[in-house]
Amino acid sequence: MCGIVGYIGHRPAYEILIKGLHRLEYRGYDSAGVAMVGDKGDLNIYKTRGKVEDLERFCHAKDLDGNIGIAHTRWATHGEPNDVNAHPHLSHSGKLALVHNGTIENYNILKEALEQQGCKFKSDTDTEVLVQLIEYIKTTNNCTLIEAVREALKEVIGAYAIAVIDTNEPDTVIAARKSSPLVIGIGEDETFLASDATPIVDYTDKVVYLNDDEIAIIRRGEPLKIITTDNESAEIDIQTLKLSVSQLEKGGFPHFMLKEIYEQPRTIRDCVRGRIGNSGGKVTLSGVIEHSDKFLNAKRIIIVACGTSWHAGLIGKRLIEEATRIPVEVAYASEFRYSNPIVTPDDIVIAISQSGETADTLAAIQLAKEKGAFVYGVCNVVGSSIARATDSGTYIHVGPEIGVASTKAFTGQVTVLIMLAMAIAQIRKTMPKEEITKVAGYLRRLPDLIKQTLKLNDKIEHLSSIYTYVHNFLYLGRGYNYPSALEGALKLKEISYIHAEGYPAAEMKHGPIALIDRELPTVVIAPTDELHEKIISNIQQIKARGGSVIAVVTKGDTSIAEIADHTIEIPDVPECVSPVIVSIPLQLLAYHIAVKKGCNVDMPRNLAKSVTVE
Ligand code: M6R
Repeated sequence: MCGIVGYIGHRPAYEILIKGLHRLEYRGYDSAGVAMVGDKGDLNIYKTRGKVEDLERFCHAKDLDGNIGIAHTRWATHGEPNDVNAHPHLSHSGKLALVHNGTIENYNILKEALEQQGCKFKSDTDTEVLVQLIEYIKTTNNCTLIEAVREALKEVIGAYAIAVIDTNEPDTVIAARKSSPLVIGIGEDETFLASDATPIVDYTDKVVYLNDDEIAIIRRGEPLKIITTDNESAEIDIQTLKLSVSQLEKGGFPHFMLKEIYEQPRTIRDCVRGRIGNSGGKVTLSGVIEHSDKFLNAKRIIIVACGTSWHAGLIGKRLIEEATRIPVEVAYASEFRYSNPIVTPDDIVIAISQSGETADTLAAIQLAKEKGAFVYGVCNVVGSSIARATDSGTYIHVGPEIGVASTKAFTGQVTVLIMLAMAIAQIRKTMPKEEITKVAGYLRRLPDLIKQTLKLNDKIEHLSSIYTYVHNFLYLGRGYNYPSALEGALKLKEISYIHAEGYPAAEMKHGPIALIDRELPTVVIAPTDELHEKIISNIQQIKARGGSVIAVVTKGDTSIAEIADHTIEIPDVPECVSPVIVSIPLQLLAYHIAVKKGCNVDMPRNLAKSVTVE
């Protein structure tokens, strides 16, 4: 949530900052702002409510010079999204400017203390407190910017990634992090910083991921220096980015979401590459092999995640329990962290996160580690905070996901969880080799099966025009596809603002059936499996009450076609693989309805891609 960018070097900062903000806009788009130290040593600061393109319009014909600057795109936490609350925030004297991602929990106490010292506040944000505090310390202690930042951070409780500039030290940017991500890009006589590597990749592939409680001192013409908040010098670990600019562009698609839906044959191929043998059924996950004793002796697995990743976790529970007979619990990370959970060193905690930055999931990991559990990560973003905080893990390798609605990350997560279940089963010898070989065969075929399923796009687009203006939707599924129903409903509601609920199909009769009428369409996920007959009864119950049914069925299933209003035929796959295939039409349905409604599918209201606050 919130994206920050910074630059110091020889190029005009403004262009780099704006381009960087566009890349980070997925993190929040309530307001945006830039501050540059101009060539005359003055501060040029521009900020406005709205998206980065609004900021660009606002900056038109303004003084934009300077080759040092910071910028911000906001997801509002404290204070409504307006011009005043937009970042950067200025200190009392107007000489310091600061951008911040995170939340300062004790900002009220600090604010009161500063007000008693005569500080005047303009905004309702927690961030302004920090910049005022830094200036107050700098003036009172008569110290340098870096000393003032370090002292100020000792007073702060909360999460932050910050970048600060000061017209008194016009060749310096100070950046710091605690629980919010920050990456520094090292170029030739220039340095970049950003909430993730996407604004940096155009200029350099050499990056340093700042750790918690570290402060970066970036000075023009000097090598990067990192110290801790305790003033100890920290190691600089320069890593090479494996990210290309083309991965960050729409590539001819109208939206990132559609591009990412269509990328899935390739992303799943990348996800399984090197992990499933070309023939035969061996699944090789190095993270499991390196810690085979943990998986051999585990008494229980607890999966922690949020949102779509939590839905993948529900599928993972079923997969792992079936394949390994280890009991698995799935917890919302946000609940787990405050539930005084029973976790022992015999437990494995699996944390699932696309971004690898979700604050609740990170906190759940810390708690699990304190209680002695072995923590395994399933992440997408390489080098992310969660990937680094876990003891081991498997990357899903689906490439950058920019659309706020998770699509290819979900199918990647489920694919990794299928492989994880097989890999653990191999160690524990809980699944016949032939069965593993059969599932592995389907994993190899998944990219082609997804390609076939994507051919449904035109039919689904047509279907979406029938349901564009309904107010509610019900999604039903059973077994492996109950979580698919939850995920289908989440996709629709987050991008089209249509209320949608996912339910286990058989639970419908215990309450939701009361909602059924002509106005309420139901998506029933009904591939041919052992509960097929039961789900047909559920469809009949809906039809008997005048509801309309869109059924996702296995190709050739005529029994449901006779009773449902519309059928969407997917390829025939085993149950445990079906959530990957089922999710494709559900993603397309949500996408087309949202587009027809005129919604901004890549940047739905109130949402951000990476939820780095509680
Ligand atoms: O990056 P994470 O996977 O940890 O994110 C978790 C959720 O915030 C995320 O899945 C969210 O629910 C998406 N908007 C769903 O499309």
